[in-house]
Amino acid sequence: MCGIVGYAGYRQAYSILLDSLKRLEYRGYDSAGVAIVGSGVTVQKDKGYISHLEETAEPTPGTVGIAHTRWATHGPPSKENAHPHLDCSGEIALIHNGIIENHMELRARLKASGHVFRSETDTEVAVHLIESYASDGLEGAVRRALQDIRGSYAFAVIHAKEPDKVVAARNESPLVVGLGTDENFLASDVPALLKHTNRVVYVMDREIVVLNREGARITDYEGRPVAREPQRITWTLEDAEKGGFEHFMLKEIFEEPQAIHDTLLGRVAEPELNSFFREGYTNVKLLACGTSYHAALVGKYILEELARVPTTAELASEYRYSRAPADRPLVVLLSQSGETADTLGACREANRRGCKTFAITNIIGSSLSREAQRTMLTRAGLEIGVAATKTFVAQLTALYLLAIRIGLERGTLGVEEANRLKEELRRLPRAVQAVLNEAPYIEGLAHEYAKTRDVYFIGRHLGYPIAMEGALKLKEISYIHAEAYAAGEMKHGPLALVGAETPVIAIATRDHTYEKMLSNIREVDARGAPILAIGTEGDKDLGKVVDNVIYTPAVPPLFAPVPVVVALQLLAYHVARIRGCSIDKPRNLAKSVTVE
Ligand code: M6R
Repeated sequence: MCGIVGYAGYRQAYSILLDSLKRLEYRGYDSAGVAIVGSGVTVQKDKGYISHLEETAEPTPGTVGIAHTRWATHGPPSKENAHPHLDCSGEIALIHNGIIENHMELRARLKASGHVFRSETDTEVAVHLIESYASDGLEGAVRRALQDIRGSYAFAVIHAKEPDKVVAARNESPLVVGLGTDENFLASDVPALLKHTNRVVYVMDREIVVLNREGARITDYEGRPVAREPQRITWTLEDAEKGGFEHFMLKEIFEEPQAIHDTLLGRVAEPELNSFFREGYTNVKLLACGTSYHAALVGKYILEELARVPTTAELASEYRYSRAPADRPLVVLLSQSGETADTLGACREANRRGCKTFAITNIIGSSLSREAQRTMLTRAGLEIGVAATKTFVAQLTALYLLAIRIGLERGTLGVEEANRLKEELRRLPRAVQAVLNEAPYIEGLAHEYAKTRDVYFIGRHLGYPIAMEGALKLKEISYIHAEAYAAGEMKHGPLALVGAETPVIAIATRDHTYEKMLSNIREVDARGAPILAIGTEGDKDLGKVVDNVIYTPAVPPLFAPVPVVVALQLLAYHVARIRGCSIDKPRNLAKSVTVE
């Protein structure tokens, strides 16, 4: 996730662009850059925050320009990888938010025809492609280049030969036009525009915008004009940063379909990674803390199921004190931030013990991505709420991909089966959206839990770590005491605590543990506990034995943790909201825990 802005008007573009860009810093902040078109194109960019660019760059005169704040996905944060990127002639500058899936193939083609690349980004192919079609004029060249590009993007481009305009396009990445008087704006998100205008037009997928001082002309990819009435935005700036949601946590939960989709993008063939998984280990160890540890626990089941490789999940903070065993497992470290001290310590220890280390993190260039031997990025975008939500589902997505890849390498999965699983993965965003559509119903249920003191979560197999995650979400943001138990364990002790005052939340989706779960549900029911079950759509039996059910879409059992956890996140959110808690910044907690 990156932020892009564009300006064409009568005022000096430079300071307007940088000021607007700061409103998008929540979308990424590892490098920033600006390009102004006047007698030529001038680009200034660097690694670091926008404030760093402001301090070091010289304001360039000119009334048309583009600017970018980066969240690195391809190529680490550096001056070369920062946007805008230039073509070979230095006359065309381009910024991009998204991922170009076929960038490797396009890069090879463009290099073969003489284009010289200066960065490691996927983005740079786009500006060279536009250069290769430059005889069609800027708009025509963009239009032709888009035919070659696969992936998600919002682009904005300027050209020294057409200094009055910015050409932009969108597919699966946000883009909005702001309409002013004698000046017009472009941005990834409304907060960047609000200082200047509240009249906006949302650009849709596969549309091209030509922005100049006089207005914004939108066409579809076939060149047909698009007429869309501007909307008036009534949000305050703070509302706008949260995209109209009351809290970042809720916004981030609603971004989960996109987080899954983006994490899956372009992950078909990475030959270097495949060979990494081929040999040199007999078992896998997953290490992490907090929510990432719950992803690791789910990962154990996924890896054992798909790759048939013995797998353990351990808390990173505990691993460091265990004795080094004789074997050398493949150590997979999960961390949203990539900066958690306990997980970093575990990575160093695993390296010291001679293990292969593989990181799954949301932050490129983070300490963990530097210390582990290989890294897979989740592409959830910046997560601001302290409670991990969209990064958790992105971690699960990465674990499915990892298990498929290891399964292919170890021969436990055939290509056909792997493709079928990937197809199922591609359906997950829709399943998550179906749960999000139930948010008003879940909010209604939340009232019943807001007054309670203790809640128990129960689940079996894949439902158990998801029960743990549900309990963690509830306790960290609503301060209600919540514990999770493997449902079969209740009778070995915790049942003593259960009664009419202790609601139980049971994960009871349709899988091979379902019948046993029903028995466990009856056990708590017999002690008078009010029961909420998370079940599978179409299940006619569950509603007869529990008080309430949140139904989630029927997906293959291995993938059920994803829609189920979304329901639990929404429940925790609404309970905390009803209780008036500080949801995005819960007491005593920090987003990134850099102490042991
Ligand atoms: O950045 P990490 O994934 O390494 O963070 C690990 C935990 O600190 C984190 O998941 C924490 O438990 C969250 N507050 C959970 O919502």
